[in-house]
Amino acid sequence: MDHTFYVTTPIYYVNDVPHIGHAYTTVAADAAARYHRLRGHETFFLTGTDEHGQKVERAARERGKDPQAWCDEIVPDWKALWGRLGISNDDFIRTTEQRHKERAQAFWQALKDTGDVYLDTYEGPYCIACEEFYAPDKLLDGNLCPVHGRPVEQLREENYFFRLSKYKDWLLNDYYARTPAPVQPRARLNEVIAFCQDLKDTSITRSSLTWGIPVPWDPKHVMYVWVEALLNYVTALGYPDGANFKTFWPGVNIVGKDILRFHAVTWPAMLHAAGVDPPQLVFAHGWLLVGGEKMSKTKLTGIHPDDLLGTFGSDAFRYYFLREVAFGQDGSFSWESLHARYTSELANGFGNLASRVLTLIESNRDGFVPSPDGGEQDPERAVRSTVEKAVATYDDAFERLAFHEALEAVDAIVRHANGYLVETAPWKLVKEPNTDKRVNAILYTCAEVLRVLAVLLSPVTPDACGRLWTSLGIPDSLAEQRLPAAARWGGLAPGTRVGKGEPLFPRVEA
Ligand code: MSP
Repeated sequence: MDHTFYVTTPIYYVNDVPHIGHAYTTVAADAAARYHRLRGHETFFLTGTDEHGQKVERAARERGKDPQAWCDEIVPDWKALWGRLGISNDDFIRTTEQRHKERAQAFWQALKDTGDVYLDTYEGPYCIACEEFYAPDKLLDGNLCPVHGRPVEQLREENYFFRLSKYKDWLLNDYYARTPAPVQPRARLNEVIAFCQDLKDTSITRSSLTWGIPVPWDPKHVMYVWVEALLNYVTALGYPDGANFKTFWPGVNIVGKDILRFHAVTWPAMLHAAGVDPPQLVFAHGWLLVGGEKMSKTKLTGIHPDDLLGTFGSDAFRYYFLREVAFGQDGSFSWESLHARYTSELANGFGNLASRVLTLIESNRDGFVPSPDGGEQDPERAVRSTVEKAVATYDDAFERLAFHEALEAVDAIVRHANGYLVETAPWKLVKEPNTDKRVNAILYTCAEVLRVLAVLLSPVTPDACGRLWTSLGIPDSLAEQRLPAAARWGGLAPGTRVGKGEPLFPRVEA
């Protein structure tokens, strides 16, 4: 394997239970990881939890708990949710783990040794919900946080600062100028470039707080939670000399647009300062909106993923968000659109195609996939051509993290195949004389479409694809399939014994 792929989600604050916004990021990173495994790339997928800082500490205290005890109590809920969503992470990092603490301290020492860390006094507003320092002119009227609309707190304390301003030229003229762009989508890169025109040094410690990792050379201070949390992407790999760090870094950091600045400015600059490669790509996705606003627990628009999972299942959850929202832009969630897409594309689309084809083969060919030889005509060639075009679009889209485009291409296969089945109506043909070869070709074409669909959709709907693969009776496992070979037309061997299986996507009442 000469190609590696490392993808991360942000690590989530454990001040509360997860909502669908967190699940959205995680599902997207999971689909990317699964796609790269399918391509045969050596892949590492990391997620985890951000456990230090004032926000988590307060959440614990409000519940009358010690922060560590609170984190230990709630982290299993997060992990269990990722299990229910079919998340295939290779590691899960908690920032309270010893491995993270030690390696974060090693990084801090390296940063200090560059001479770019100095002591000064910070005075100004701080939003605990963001865990972020704000310049006074960035606040809303009434000294409110621009993200949360809640009052900020006035801080005055001795802090260590990182000489971020020194890296302005490197960021603007070297890092952001690279091809392909290391910050995407393009509009986000432009925002970051605009922000850097007036780049100031940044506070990297807190002295009024103890719930954090002590600064190695001055333990009265703890690391500012953001700067510490970013390091998870390398501490989990064993920075500075672990084998995974050498193999996988630099990687792809998928984040929400609200946390882009830390990832696209502070993070690459501090890595570069400490002599480590900056991220290969920071991709910022948009927000999930509910009723037109960013969904949030604070605004009581938070929706727990289990509310959707219970009715629709994990595959539908994954498919819906990746198909509905153009990755990189904001998108609205509504129960109506979830139900509509589920019904048209999964239940009536992919699911119905699978059950009709498997039933037809069962009842007309004793369950054995027939050979298409001698019966193919233009309609079969048209289906094949749709598949080939869709596969090319799919690959290109997945490489760009354009999940919505990849899924649109796959849905075009489903729609074409369902239409083709209605048009050729093999259930009628079987009753006519001398149609064996035609029927064979039609059934083979449909079964082969199912095989290709199971491969292509496996990064997004892994559970349904696994069940379909079993029904198709193909001896090699789905996990062993590799693109591009696995999507090449004609992979299904005639004579394969298929089964009927349960419906992939049972209907859900409106
Ligand atoms: N702990 C920090 C990240 C540190 S990474 C080194 C954090 N945590 S968070 O739990 O608040 O949010 C994590 C991610 O969830 C962010 O990428 C954020 O954009 C995403 N989402 C939170 N609400 C969201 C929506 N309503 N929609 C889409 N994603 C959202 O920030």
